Amino acid sequence: MWIFKKIVDLQHYLQQQREVGASIGFAPTMGALHAGHLSLFEVSRKQNQVTVCSIFVNPTQFNDPKDLEKYPRPIENDIDMLTAAGCDVLFLPDVSEIYPQGTTAWACPFDFGSLAKVMEGAHRPGHFEGMVHVVQRLLDIVRPDRLYMGQKDFQQQTIVQSMLRQECSDIVLIRCPIVRERDGLAMSSRNVRLSADDRLLAPMIYKTLLAAKQDKIAGFSPIETQARAIKALTLTPDFSIDYVEIVDSTTLQTIEKWGDSKETVLCTTVRLGGIRLLDNIIL
Ligand code: PAJ
Repeated sequence: MWIFKKIVDLQHYLQQQREVGASIGFAPTMGALHAGHLSLFEVSRKQNQVTVCSIFVNPTQFNDPKDLEKYPRPIENDIDMLTAAGCDVLFLPDVSEIYPQGTTAWACPFDFGSLAKVMEGAHRPGHFEGMVHVVQRLLDIVRPDRLYMGQKDFQQQTIVQSMLRQECSDIVLIRCPIVRERDGLAMSSRNVRLSADDRLLAPMIYKTLLAAKQDKIAGFSPIETQARAIKALTLTPDFSIDYVEIVDSTTLQTIEKWGDSKETVLCTTVRLGGIRLLDNIIL
């Protein structure tokens, strides 16, 4: 696997690949890789000749400085995992490589309307702006044919899709399914920070999502399904619910009737022992 820290070296390599007709698949990450990340590279390898991963813990998308400080950075292990997964290129830039002008001067050129204001947007001010800043910069650098992102961060991929549309970009965004632990907990780099006791409680989130799917089939309305999910989560006193929303997957607006939306998703974030656990299910 090639490891590039400098943009010019990465671009030199990718240009050579393009000249021989290779298509480029790209999955941006913040490292601390797990099987969820690896699934993105697996899909990319099937669809492209060259698969690029970036590892960059983007300071501008952390609204909580403690979260940034505590973000795990097991780089040696990540490199081993990427090599074993058959990733072709790792882009591993420094902060100064990504933001040579610093981070403060950027004005977001996109209008996401309510997309970036609801759910995570309401709980993490500035988070999506920082995320969009770095994804736009990484896409300008890598210029992939296909971009691979996880359904795990549902709102994130919806916002990136909107960004690509606003830019009239021809990059194809591929949404990859959520990879879960055997007990149902959605894999996340932050899971290692859960205490042993909390780790046992965490799978209740996915159980609640599955129950919501059954509730829809059983004929409950969206509002009833949402209320029942909130009630079920409240039964675990250590959970603190940030939100449970049933929304249209493109507009992220709540729906009144199932028929109001072609694809409906239940998104939730629950805090447990200070860790925010995100999950969602397509209903
Ligand atoms: P990170 O949290 O490292 O996630 C990188 C990619 O892996 C995202 O597209 C995310 O949705 C996907 N992913 C994470 N857990 C997953 C799981 N359990 N199953 C499937 N896919 C999963 O998301 C970010 O980094 C950053 O915001 C980034 C886009 C890199 C910009 O900094």
